[in-house]
Amino acid sequence: MNELLKNIYERRAVRKYKNVPVAKEVIDQLIAAGCMAPSAMNRQPWKFYILTDSSQVASFSKQIAQKALGQMKRLSIKEAAKMTLSFFHLSKVIDFIKTQDHVFYGAPAVIFITSPRKDEWGSLDVGMCAQNIMLAAKALGLDTCPVGFARFVMQTKDYFTLNIPATEQVELAIIVGFGDERPKPHNRVENNVVYI
Ligand SMILES: Cc1cc2nc3c(=O)[nH]c(=O)nc-3n(C[C@H](O)[C@H](O)[C@H](O)COP(=O)(O)O)c2cc1C
Repeated sequence: MNELLKNIYERRAVRKYKNVPVAKEVIDQLIAAGCMAPSAMNRQPWKFYILTDSSQVASFSKQIAQKALGQMKRLSIKEAAKMTLSFFHLSKVIDFIKTQDHVFYGAPAVIFITSPRKDEWGSLDVGMCAQNIMLAAKALGLDTCPVGFARFVMQTKDYFTLNIPATEQVELAIIVGFGDERPKPHNRVENNVVYI
């Protein structure tokens, strides 16, 4: 199979990582690939804030989990379940409960991606950029997981240490590392194509 297609089919959201760092040069390559994504009106609105210090990653993970749980407690059980399942598949909920690091899964690198608050296409552009990063990572033998829960970082007490200007918002984080699991692909939704 064509290498790019192979990466597309073999990329998985990986939630268990080896305790092996990712070299800065490799992260730089991923970011460069991310920046080659298309963007509305070529605005290239993304900015990247990267954590590679394991104690910082662990600390943010804990603070984000607390904020996310705090929000869930204010929801009904049905709404909380909906929110959890909007981020990951039901089969992963048990793993979520069992793991120590509920947000960044012990990954050695976390890339927060922001867009300007007032950019109507920002989220979509960041999504495209994020997918480039994840496919580039796969091509380089690394694994990733997009982490929407990372948005709660904006509510954490240490958020200011990231020096993200108030004009930007965190859209997503991509965790990167050498995976220590090989999740099976989820079935894909079918019958969602209409040729006119
Ligand atoms: C926008 C977005 C946000 C996501 N947020 C989370 C998250 O916070 N935590 C998590 O474990 N997985 C998260 N995921 C990963 C999805 O659960 C995963 O992509 C999906 O279950 C399909 O699995 P696959 O990527 O292995 O095909 C997110 C994915 C996307 C696209």
